[in-house]
Amino acid sequence: MIILKNNQLVQREEAIIDMEDRGFQFGDGVYEVIRIYEGKFFLMNEHLERLQYSLTETGIEFDIKKGKLAEQLEDLAEKNQIDDGAIYIQITRGIAPRSHPYPTEAIPTLMAYPIPISRPIKLQESGAKVILEEDVRWLRCDIKSLNLLGNVMAKQTAKEAEAFEAILYRNPEHVTEGSSTNVFIVKDGKVITHPANNFILNGITRRYIHHLSNQLGITFEEDVFSVDELLNADEVFLASTTSEVMPVTQIDDYTIGNGEPGSISRKLLDEFFKHVD
Ligand code: PDD
Repeated sequence: MIILKNNQLVQREEAIIDMEDRGFQFGDGVYEVIRIYEGKFFLMNEHLERLQYSLTETGIEFDIKKGKLAEQLEDLAEKNQIDDGAIYIQITRGIAPRSHPYPTEAIPTLMAYPIPISRPIKLQESGAKVILEEDVRWLRCDIKSLNLLGNVMAKQTAKEAEAFEAILYRNPEHVTEGSSTNVFIVKDGKVITHPANNFILNGITRRYIHHLSNQLGITFEEDVFSVDELLNADEVFLASTTSEVMPVTQIDDYTIGNGEPGSISRKLLDEFFKHVD
């Protein structure tokens, strides 16, 4: 496998991370996962803009526009012959003697490499089972940071329950997002999702669903909803780069709608497929 490390394409074995890299010691870094369909990056600019947002918010001095990151990622995908898959990219604050404040001299470490993805088509057809978990993460979930322990623990609980995802709530009145997905409900024909603020990651797929909803004439609203509203929604679905649009048919022991993917979720999924197939 060929890796992009800083500005060089190297073999995996050569892409060594220093033990004092702040990404390794503090989770002091940010990342993106960008999908590739039929050899083409999907929504690359949107992902790179969000990466810049995460860098700016965390004060990591890295200017994506200055470099040739987009071309380097294209090159990386080509060298690894990725037709259908994804690229993982992370940028940390760099290497410095271990001390909490931002070091003044560190040079950010960039690492990007292909990750295999299989499209969850079967589950999209049947609908997924998910669980509810308390959202115990920090209050800057708008930053796509490497600090994913809260997300990882919630996903593990979901896995142990043989569920696809954990939907997170701060309190019974406030559902936020999934451990690695955004959450949507459909009520009386309207698609409703959490506002893009510090409680959630403003997903690129979420934004794309907004765009698809507009195209299809489906009302799209940003509003906070409760656990009760979630469980009593006509439809529930998730969205992310890797799960695309994923209908949810069961939450803990509650069946959503009639237990099958709902019509609006299906419409959005069909429209999504048209754009990536
Ligand atoms: N996860 N919310 C969280 C907490 C996420 O980690 C993700 C993405 C999303 C959806 O964002 P997007 O549509 O831009 O993929 C929402 C990625 C895929 C991951 O960590 O693997």
